[in-house]
Amino acid sequence: MDEYGKIDMKQPSRSHQKVIIITGASSGLGRSFAEALDQRLPRNIAFWLIARHEKDLQETAAELNREVRLFPLDLTLPESFDSLDSILKNEQPTVHYLINNAGEGRACFFEEEAIGAHRSLSDLNVRAPLLLTSLALPYMERGSRLLFTASVAAFLPQPGFASYAASKAMILSFGRALAEELRPRGIHVAITCPNPMMTNFFSPEEKDAFQNSFKRISIEDPDVVAKKTLAAVERGKKVIVTGGWGKCIRIVASIVPTSWMTRIVGWLVRHDKRHT
Ligand SMILES: NC(=O)c1ccc[n+]([C@@H]2O[C@H](COP(=O)([O-])OP(=O)(O)OC[C@H]3O[C@@H](n4cnc5c(N)ncnc54)[C@H](OP(=O)(O)O)[C@@H]3O)[C@@H](O)[C@H]2O)c1
Repeated sequence: MDEYGKIDMKQPSRSHQKVIIITGASSGLGRSFAEALDQRLPRNIAFWLIARHEKDLQETAAELNREVRLFPLDLTLPESFDSLDSILKNEQPTVHYLINNAGEGRACFFEEEAIGAHRSLSDLNVRAPLLLTSLALPYMERGSRLLFTASVAAFLPQPGFASYAASKAMILSFGRALAEELRPRGIHVAITCPNPMMTNFFSPEEKDAFQNSFKRISIEDPDVVAKKTLAAVERGKKVIVTGGWGKCIRIVASIVPTSWMTRIVGWLVRHDKRHT
């Protein structure tokens, strides 16, 4: 049952417990992060998993070998942050790792979406990571880690995916600057920029269209993205591009003038009838 914004407050409090917070942990890359971190980290660190659908969070939790708390919250709602704020204040955990991963996007022209969709995208992709980072930072210590999921879309403006690409560019820019701000505190900040992954991010029709288009060469596996990302974070990398195709896009976008790139992408999108 979906009861967004409600948390079971009867769970026992654990002062100064080390926790890892992962948003968007009910599926896709977020679930892959949880599973990969479960293999890498000591058992005394608890996982706090956030997403709207509790049943899906339970499925993630069933794969993990440690204490897990589920937070069935809608991160587009302000009251979700009030709940998280009071839990952090009551329990005073040490936030060892925060993964701001939840995100959404639909490949279409800006005018094809209604205002509600724009509100939801900006609330989830932009506002939520800022608010959660702000809430969690007082509980982080030297050696803590902060990871943002951006996208290869962050490297260039994308007609046909304009607001999504811009939201990820914002996260990339924010994460880079924050990394420098937090350097004296010894908190490592990283941003991962995956290629397309065939997760619930895409509808079944979009997945079919993607698999049948030239873009299939860029598809990445979320489990591989999670493992490569976490290994790169451990090596101290700030901007992580896990796929070869993404690395090419990043290089090309840094060489070719942005106005040319935007025109080329716009042309490709208009001429790709199966564009997802
Ligand atoms: N898939 C791709 O091609 C791709 C490529 C590059 C980057 N990314 C980024 O990777 C991240 C993870 O996406 P994914 O591919 O793993 O897609 P996904 O399987 O759809 O996962 C999205 C996660 O976010 C959660 N979520 C969605 N809306 C939410 C809300 N309002 N409040 C709280 N949680 C919410 C979803 O859970 P609930 O539905 O239970 O809330 C789910 O756990 C996103 O930031 C996405 O932008 C994806």
